[in-house]
Amino acid sequence: MQTIIVTGGAGYIGSHTIIELLKQTDYNVVSVDNFSNSTVKTFDRIEAITGKRVKNFNVDISNFETLEFAVNAIKNPIGIIHFAAFKSVPQSVADPLLYYHNNLGSLINILKICKAKQIPNFIFSSSCSVYGNVDKLPVTEQTPFSAAESPYAQTKQMGEDIVFNFTKSDPAFKSVLLRYFNPVGAHVSALNGELSNSKPDNLVPYITLTAAGLLPKLTVFGGDYDTRDGSCIRDYVHVSDIADAHVKAMNYLIAGKQKKECSVFNLGTGNGVSVLEAIHSFEKVSGEKLNYEIGPRRAGDVINIYANNDFAKRELQWEPKYNLDDMMLSSWKWQLQLKNNY
Ligand code: UD1
Repeated sequence: MQTIIVTGGAGYIGSHTIIELLKQTDYNVVSVDNFSNSTVKTFDRIEAITGKRVKNFNVDISNFETLEFAVNAIKNPIGIIHFAAFKSVPQSVADPLLYYHNNLGSLINILKICKAKQIPNFIFSSSCSVYGNVDKLPVTEQTPFSAAESPYAQTKQMGEDIVFNFTKSDPAFKSVLLRYFNPVGAHVSALNGELSNSKPDNLVPYITLTAAGLLPKLTVFGGDYDTRDGSCIRDYVHVSDIADAHVKAMNYLIAGKQKKECSVFNLGTGNGVSVLEAIHSFEKVSGEKLNYEIGPRRAGDVINIYANNDFAKRELQWEPKYNLDDMMLSSWKWQLQLKNNY
């Protein structure tokens, strides 16, 4: 049986993608994750949802020798989905070297492994942060990059270049770059969702932890931007829709359907939502009043961004199924389940 390797398989998007791979395909799925920002319990959650136990290699991908040792033990790898990376915008502003070392070092090692083991299909987790602050919305895959607003965003811009140039250099290698907008929400079963080993920086876990009484108050970073209500605008997209796009992209690569060696897709719903609108959706579906205040702007934030997702819809036949209320309600159910069970 052929195997798909998922790096960062215990992470938020990685674990949801494993669930969709197990549900929608017959591939064997193996994870490589050292739990630097995740937990081994995720594999129990995946098993509870799918009935299948996924093997994980607990190795640091930024160390080539240990990575090679793990991949040598994996039979018939046909593709790699590379999620493992750090993803906090503010942390990357505070500690840029950590981001360059981890996110770029790991990527280079994974590509060296693809070359050495002749693994031909590769998906890279990119981000809408590659676009920076743009003049024209929504952004298409052809929208030129502006300056990166944070070292995190810069590792995604550089990561895309690395994958692109490597793909050009090796005729046997094909790749897809998936630019996620803002993945949020939890599995519809409420058995899997976002977890962090430290206080989260992302909006939705911050909202649910505050509503659950585990954090005192949410600060809205900036109420004086040039947007319809003064708060930043993002394109929130359900994590299970993002996961589904990975399955479609891997099938697309394996079937040889791509028009270019390296294809790029925006993964967003196409809807721009402000921070205040996201909070109001949460309050509506949860019935909870959120304790929040408008505070100062956060360094590294893009003001307004949302996707044109026509290309992913057309080429991958991808259609996001969940709306903003679904995203908020599933996050809240996951938070309640965590509070009751852990
Ligand atoms: C950024 C990237 C995104 C990437 C993500 C990974 C951009 C445009 N997007 O998301 O592609 O997947 O990092 O982490 O760079 N906010 C508050 N209060 C909080 C937390 C957040 O007001 O306590 C606001 C932020 O200012 C922002 C919005 O909520 O306007 C979303 O923030 P966050 O969830 O951190 O994601 P991004 O920084 O947009």
